[in-house]
Amino acid sequence: MMEFALLLAAGAADVPAWVLLAYLVAGVCFILALRGLSSPESSRRGNGYGMVGMAIAVVTTLATHEIASIAEIGMAIFLGGIIGLTVARRIAMTAMPQLVAAFHSLVGMAAVLVAAAAFLNPSAFGILGADGNILAVSRIEMALGAAIGAITFSGSVIAFAKLNGNMSGAPILLPARHVINLGTLGGILALTGLYALSGDAGAGEGMEFWIIVALAFLVGFLLIIPIGGADMPVVVSMLNSYSGWAAAAMGFTLGNTAMIITGALVGSSGAILSYIMCRAMNRSFVSVIAGGFGQDASAGGDKGSAIDRSYKAGSAEDAAFLLSQADKVIIVPGYGMAVAQAQHVLREMTDLLKEKGVEVKFAIHPVAGRMPGHMNVLLAEANVPYDEVFELEDINSEFAQADVAFVIGANDVTNPAAKTDKTSPIYGMPVLDVEKARTTLFIKRSMGGAGYAGVENELFFRDNTMMLLSDAKKMVEEIVKSLD
Ligand code: TAP
Repeated sequence: MMEFALLLAAGAADVPAWVLLAYLVAGVCFILALRGLSSPESSRRGNGYGMVGMAIAVVTTLATHEIASIAEIGMAIFLGGIIGLTVARRIAMTAMPQLVAAFHSLVGMAAVLVAAAAFLNPSAFGILGADGNILAVSRIEMALGAAIGAITFSGSVIAFAKLNGNMSGAPILLPARHVINLGTLGGILALTGLYALSGDAGAGEGMEFWIIVALAFLVGFLLIIPIGGADMPVVVSMLNSYSGWAAAAMGFTLGNTAMIITGALVGSSGAILSYIMCRAMNRSFVSVIAGGFGQDASAGGDKGSAIDRSYKAGSAEDAAFLLSQADKVIIVPGYGMAVAQAQHVLREMTDLLKEKGVEVKFAIHPVAGRMPGHMNVLLAEANVPYDEVFELEDINSEFAQADVAFVIGANDVTNPAAKTDKTSPIYGMPVLDVEKARTTLFIKRSMGGAGYAGVENELFFRDNTMMLLSDAKKMVEEIVKSLD
């Protein structure tokens, strides 16, 4: 509450009290929303709080608009709404990370455009001093806002291209990249200082501003190109955080308290999420922010050739037999379950197994799928009880006592190369120890298809592994038929 009081005091100069109060209520709703989203049980309520908070913030801002007319704002909302609706309806669930990256890029660009508008027309933003120059503090806000926005924009565009397959997911490692990154960031800060101290900073005056924007676009690009495919989840949440800080900076330029609060909440929660993801991936948080995770150019891993090696293939009947004979089954869902939309039939399968007295648990790797919480959302959609779903650190020790590890469309998150192969791009990432179960069943469509990181999983060729080669939904439907 202390922060709110300070923020309100900062923005209180000529803003009516009811507006400040409304923004405060919106801010409290956003905090409750984040609190609600921290657990699947309360996430619907959390979303509700978020919607109420956003409605209060939007209505309050519309009621206090000064520059644009309601018709102009309405037209912008209409056009944006149509585009958003079309994109949201068309996008496949599996392309969500790309969409999120694309949205982050828009937030970044919006921050750059707001800062540029304030730079070119400062009187409209009320940031001109008595000497006809933009206030020094506003110059710092604009420069930093534009810089964070530009970094977010170009970083998100690269993340989008890597996730969407327009660009190779392999790390691009420039020599001396950390020196270049630090030098460019140092240059941005020095130019911000120069611009703030400049005696000539009227509307549109000060080349420093544009150089800062150009350098920041470059930094965003440089920070994301060295990051390899398997580490993109951390990048997406990091960019989420940057987009929040860009929005907060925009809030300062626009003098909008709600935007400062919301931006700060998104920025800090994104940073916390990135930290949690870094821990889950066993990566250093500092090296993520610095761009690249200390990868070395030789990291590539063994892609091997699945076709040449022998493996055991099984049928739905074989799988149903093994599952029904088991005392304990641990299910490991991955990206392939999302592609196949197999979660509902998987729930039916677990119900049947439970009826037969089999203990069934779900093991969720923190980066399974393509976005944080991806598997939890799908399982919740299929009404899998929350108390059957366990995080990696809570269940990993139980594989040794399981009769069957049932891996459905997961690959990288089970790959033991992460524990043993220093050249693998996923080396160091904790993985689910499925090979410790008496039998491991792997559902995937073909032996040729690799996981996101593009590396082969040698578990497919172990003696206690049975491959179930099929679309996940089709295979589980057949297993259900055999169990019935
Ligand atoms: P992956 O390693 O990507 O493996 C997916 C597996 O599903 C593949 O073996 C694929 O083989 C199979 N598959 C695809 N479609 C299928 C279908 N219709 N039916 C059956 N199988 C299908 O997935 P994972 O184990 O969940 O690991 C996640 C990876 O994504 C990690 O490397 C992680 O770093 C990365 N990543 C995660 C996120 C977040 S935040 N979760 C974001 C971006 C990237 P076939 O093609 O042969 O079927």
